[in-house]
Amino acid sequence: MVAFKSVAAPEVATLPVIRQTALSRLAPEVADFLEGGAGDESTLLANRSAFSHWGFRQRVMSGLAGPDLSATFLGIDLAMPVMTAPFGADGLFHPEGQKAVARANRMAGITSIVPEAGTFGLEEVVQAAPEATRIAQLHPMGPEKNFLTMLARIEDAGCAAICLTVDCPTGGWRERVLRNSFDLDARYVGGNYPDSGETTLIQVFGQLFERSATVWSWDRLASLMSHTRLPWFAKGIMTADDALASEAAGAHAVYVSNHGGRQLDGVPAALDALVEVRRAIDGRLPIVFDSGVRRGADVVKALALGADVAVIGRLAAYGLAAGGQAGVERVHSLLYDEIRTVLTLLGRGGVRDLTPEVLIPQAGSVLHGVFGADA
Ligand SMILES: Cc1cc2nc3c(=O)[nH]c(=O)nc-3n(C[C@H](O)[C@H](O)[C@H](O)COP(=O)(O)O)c2cc1C
Repeated sequence: MVAFKSVAAPEVATLPVIRQTALSRLAPEVADFLEGGAGDESTLLANRSAFSHWGFRQRVMSGLAGPDLSATFLGIDLAMPVMTAPFGADGLFHPEGQKAVARANRMAGITSIVPEAGTFGLEEVVQAAPEATRIAQLHPMGPEKNFLTMLARIEDAGCAAICLTVDCPTGGWRERVLRNSFDLDARYVGGNYPDSGETTLIQVFGQLFERSATVWSWDRLASLMSHTRLPWFAKGIMTADDALASEAAGAHAVYVSNHGGRQLDGVPAALDALVEVRRAIDGRLPIVFDSGVRRGADVVKALALGADVAVIGRLAAYGLAAGGQAGVERVHSLLYDEIRTVLTLLGRGGVRDLTPEVLIPQAGSVLHGVFGADA
């Protein structure tokens, strides 16, 4: 079991305050890039409000002592059922980017999913926290040669698994980015491709997007993944059909996500998709979940609805922007304490025995409070 190390003497008392601190420190166009979603941002909003559609069915006098938050995912021990999402352009939020996230995760006993489009190359992130566990994220697109080279690099770097982002055949229609004419510099997203020779990774990805949309399929992915011995899973599953297709292609887990509302606006809240996917997968594979997690209570609800691990994207980036490694550590510490508090008050002994029975549907509820639907 991996022990969680709590950070003492909090400078920042709550997760919403960390978000506010982060946003106040970033240039407005960078804050927009981080916060924004696609189109009308209806999916971004739905991701948050979906959590308010569930309340807790509280039991008291359970006789249970301090809850057990430890979890495992694909053989990785986690001090709590949380991992950090592969968010690229990480150097925009702090000069140490995913290196700081990896160190903070190591301290907290959880795992990073290291992005392909990160500011630092995979090997640099590994070097920053050699003892940390890690999963590498890769976009299945573009030339096969590049994909296979990356598979080999991921194995050499000692990664525990591979996360393949499948909801990105092209970039999302992100109007905050368009409105600000915000162009991502290659410096922030090209750490894995220092010799690409392109002026921006947007151009690199632009070319890959053009070529990839029609060419990549589950069959092709299944055949390419036979080149690695590492377990893998597809990120961006929003339907039972795709969950089953990925299972048939040989995936070792399912990652329910709508990319934090940044890709296809109009898809439902990821939490609603989780219910559909859990029903289809029926315990055969572990389920990873992201999109909208801002609180310990959100983690508990996602687990109750069938996730084995909840992943934090923007929340980890807030910590990074607010205070680098220490900021991310603070996020983890607060999240841990929130989860523990919720489980204790719920009368549950741990995260492994959460079932839908701990929840009550809350018809027509709206989200209030500091992490409202705009977060
Ligand atoms: C700034 C930013 C960059 C991201 N970059 C990537 C990426 O390179 N690859 C990827 O698969 N997902 C990327 N994502 C999506 C996250 O992995 C994750 O799915 C999303 O943030 C989850 O939603 P949440 O932010 O509401 O937690 C990015 C998200 C953000 C906010």
